[in-house]
Formats: sequence, structure tokens, C-alpha cells
Amino acid sequence: MDKIALLKHKNEEALKGGGDKRIEAQHKKGKLTARERLQILLDEGSFEEIGKMVTHRCKDFGMEQEIYPGDGVVTGYGTINGRLTYVYSQDFTVFGGSLSETHAEKIVKIMELAMQNGAPVIGLNDSGGARIQEGVVSLGGYADIFYRNVRASGVVPQISAIMGPCAGGAVYSPAITDFILMVEHTSYMFVTGPNVVKTVTHENVTSEELGGAHTHATKSGVTHFACANEVECIQQIKRLLSYMPQNCEEDAPVYAYEAKDESRPKLNDIIPANPNQPYDIKEVIEELADANSFTEVHKDFAENIVVGFARLGGRSIGVVANQPSYLAGVLDINSSKKGARFVRFCDAFNIPLLVIVDVPGFLPGTDQEWHGIIINGAKLLYALSEATVPKVTVITRKAYGGAYDVMNSKHIGADLNYAWPTAEIAVMGAKGAAEIIFKKEISEAADHEAKLKEKETEYIDKFANPYGAAARGFIDEVIMPDETRSKLIKGFKMLENKVASMPKRKHGNIPL
Ligand code: HXC
Repeated sequence: MDKIALLKHKNEEALKGGGDKRIEAQHKKGKLTARERLQILLDEGSFEEIGKMVTHRCKDFGMEQEIYPGDGVVTGYGTINGRLTYVYSQDFTVFGGSLSETHAEKIVKIMELAMQNGAPVIGLNDSGGARIQEGVVSLGGYADIFYRNVRASGVVPQISAIMGPCAGGAVYSPAITDFILMVEHTSYMFVTGPNVVKTVTHENVTSEELGGAHTHATKSGVTHFACANEVECIQQIKRLLSYMPQNCEEDAPVYAYEAKDESRPKLNDIIPANPNQPYDIKEVIEELADANSFTEVHKDFAENIVVGFARLGGRSIGVVANQPSYLAGVLDINSSKKGARFVRFCDAFNIPLLVIVDVPGFLPGTDQEWHGIIINGAKLLYALSEATVPKVTVITRKAYGGAYDVMNSKHIGADLNYAWPTAEIAVMGAKGAAEIIFKKEISEAADHEAKLKEKETEYIDKFANPYGAAARGFIDEVIMPDETRSKLIKGFKMLENKVASMPKRKHGNIPL
């Protein structure tokens, strides 16, 4: 074979992965191959492969007879909507996508390139975990990746799609990355599978129940997105990237936007007359954001807080909003963790924050206290306090107690704080407050109920409004709901060159 023909032959071999039979089996499971996935992810013709001819070095268990060029992972770079992106895509048709020493080296190589050149890393995971035949070098390979994941954290965006099994050590690299997407019914993540679970805890559980997309989207919160199929998953990755800068030194791309009538009259009628009646905060977000620009993150987990990306006048923002239509928008352990993690991503990547507040307080009860609402609630407080990106707050209705402080109050560094005329800013709800401060008067009254009502009304008149806070400058302006979008566009524009720094230190110590 001449030299040119040899190269062609070797390239063709590499494209076949584990061979036609295994590719067919992959398709039968409703899964695409590693290369097919990259074709959908990257701009047409943009993929440049690195390490196509790398092979494993294992000589045990007859492995020297089983050599597949690429060794179970396709790595390289390309563009997504014209922007440089580094990718790795595990090939389940080669030893079940399992991670060998050389497989790990290939991933590490592109992670290093991504960090040095300041562009995101997308990992498409489909792997049976550590390459069992290789023993400790495979474990070492995982640790080499984890270490790079941590070094890259906050430097370049890292996104993990789970498109098949992801067990054992394979879950910890995605866990360190910024966003995890899973595909319903064909992907799962767990530290130990159903068999080990049965042996140790005697629980009978299927892979799907233990670690399927639905489980991790709703119960554990491990995944940020549960996608109906692989194509939807890949499209979601592209959409997510559209809100992000390439690295921590840059700003997110700005989309063309023509200023038009920014008034949103629908918002004037959105708050129900009865303060205990819920409404959907997502309707408020949709009204405030550019049309069709809102992408919710962690949609099915801790629904009492809504987080996601949107654009305002063409510019990326991160939105954090209490959701009155779920548990009255109360802050609890999961919603605090969810909010904090999102805030930290936005702050790391220069994405300004809009915080929309309608919160009755922190959720009381033994369950919350015993599971650490103190330490977990503090996460959101810490994350918002430490964020130095432009931060704007809109209080639509309730801002009670500690939750007022936590939800991007002026006191923890918000740049602009707006309130609607419907805002109620107080230490606690009127009834509870009246019962405590007028306890004696109420108990001595001939008609306890009437006295309580009278004192409750007194408290409402004094505090269930935004004017006390506005008088102290804690609220910069009480605004009409319909003018909120216009105020936000102008406000974020005014803040676009904000420079804020934190005291010199190695790193803070967020209450983990
Ligand atoms: C080597 C593996 C492999 C592995 C699968 N294969 N997992 N080869 N190392 N870890 C191979 C199989 O031998 C088979 O080869 C092919 O991949 C497809 O596997 P199947 O079992 O036929 O596929 P399926 O029925 O879809 O099941 C997939 C699976 C199962 C659920 C992933 O293979 C499985 O349970 N594998 C072992 C998972 C595991 O225990 N991994 C180690 C985790 S411990 P052929 O030649 O037939 O195509 C770990 C520690 C790391 O990761 C800790 C780091 C901190």
C-alpha cells in the first residue's frame, strides 16, 4: 500500500469506531454515534479532529488484539454558531466508551487547549466508566480529568451532556462542570448501579428510577435539563452557549436589537388583589425579557425559585425569581442551592443578574432545620453578596424577613433596586407581627379577634408598601409595572462598565 493509500485506509478505519454491528446496536437503542452527535453539534465542516489514531497501551486480557483507532473517544475542536468550541464525544461502540489511560489523555489534551485559548469545552458522555482491563491507570485518567475540570471552572464554560450510561467515576467530571443535560430513557447517572444498591441497602430499583433523566431533573437536581431526545439535547447546548462569553475575560455576545415601545401594560394587572393569591412569575419574566429569549435552567427542580438566561435589549442576563405559584415562592434548602449555583455561574462569566422578588420568607419546620436551612440558605446570601456583576432587583410583591436581605437587597451590593407599588417590605407578615407586638393589648381586649384585625390593619398600613424602604434609599425608585422593562434596559446599560472588586484573598469560604 502506498503512503497516501495507507493514510486514507487508517482514516477510514478510525471512522468505523467499534464496527458496523456495534453501530447498529447503538442506533437500535435510539442513540446516535459519537461522530453523528458532533455533526449535529458543530457548524458544518468545522470539526477538526485531534488524536484520531491514538490507541490504548494495555497488554492484559488479550487487549493487544483489540485495537481501535481513537480508543473510544472523538476529540477536537470546531465552531458553534461561528464561535470556537472544544469537544469530546465518547464512543460507546469501542469498549462501551470506557475510559482508558489514553482515552483520558485525549480529553485532558483538549481541556488544556480550551483553557489556554479561552473557549468552552463540551463533553458528550456515553461510557461504561473506568476501562476495567486497565485497572489503576484508568482511575488515574479520571483524576487527571477531574483536576482539569476544577482548574477550568470559572475560566471557560464547561457543559456535559449525558447520552448513555454514566456510572462510577464517570459522574464526577460532569458534576464539576457548569451544566449537565440528560436524555430521557437512554441516559443515566449514578455512583453505584442498581445491583450494588440491592446488595448494600436491599432496595430494588431500576436504572431509570435510580439515575434516569427524570430522577435527576426532579429529585436530586443533578441535571439542569432533561431532554426528550439526543437532537433536542444538542440543540439545547447550542442555545445555552449563545448566552455565554467564551471565557471569564470576555462578555457574552450582544444580539442585534432595535429599540421599540418597551412598555408592558399587561404587568399592571398581573398582581392579584388578594396578596395570598399566587401568579406565575414566568409570565413576568417573559414580559420583561426580549421576545422568546428566556431559557429556564433547572426547570423541574425546586420550582419555588426560577432561574434562567434571557436577553434584555439584546444583552445576556441571568434571572433569579421567586415563584409565588409554587410553595408561595418560599426559600428552602433546594431553592437556595439552585439559586446560588446559578448566580455563581453568571458572576464567573460576567453575566449581569436580574433578581425578581416575591418571597414570604424561609420555609419553617423540622425537616428544613434538621437538613440545614441555615447553612444552605446562607449559600444564596453568600453568592449574591459576592457577585460583582451588575445586579438589579425588582420587588413585585412580598419581601419579608431575612429573605428580603437575601434576595439581592441594596445592603448586599445590588446596584439598582426597584419596587412595584404592590410591594410589601417588612420583617414579617402583618398577622404574625400584630400577634407578637400587640400580644398584651389583644389578650386584654374584650373582642380579641376585632383587636387583632385592627392591629393587623395598622401594621399593613405602615409596612405593607414600598415607601418606608424608598424613604431610606433601600429602594431607588417605586415604578409602575408597565415601565419595568424600559427601566431595566436603561439600568443595565448604565451599569455595563461597572468595576467592582473584592478584598484581596486566596478565595472565599462559601458555606458548602
Ligand atoms: C471495559 C466495557 C466496560 C468497561 C462496558 N464495556 N463497560 N469494557 N470497561 N467499564 C464493554 C462491554 O464488554 C461490551 O463489549 C461493550 O462495552 C458494551 O457493553 P454491554 O454490557 O454489552 O452494553 P450494555 O448492555 O448497554 O450495558 C452497558 C453498561 C455495562 C451498563 C455500561 O456494560 C456495564 O455495567 N459496564 C460496567 C460498568 C462499570 O462497572 N464500570 C466501572 C465503574 S467503576 P463488546 O466487546 O461486547 O462490545 C469506575 C471507577 C472510576 O468507573 C472511579 C474514578 C474515581
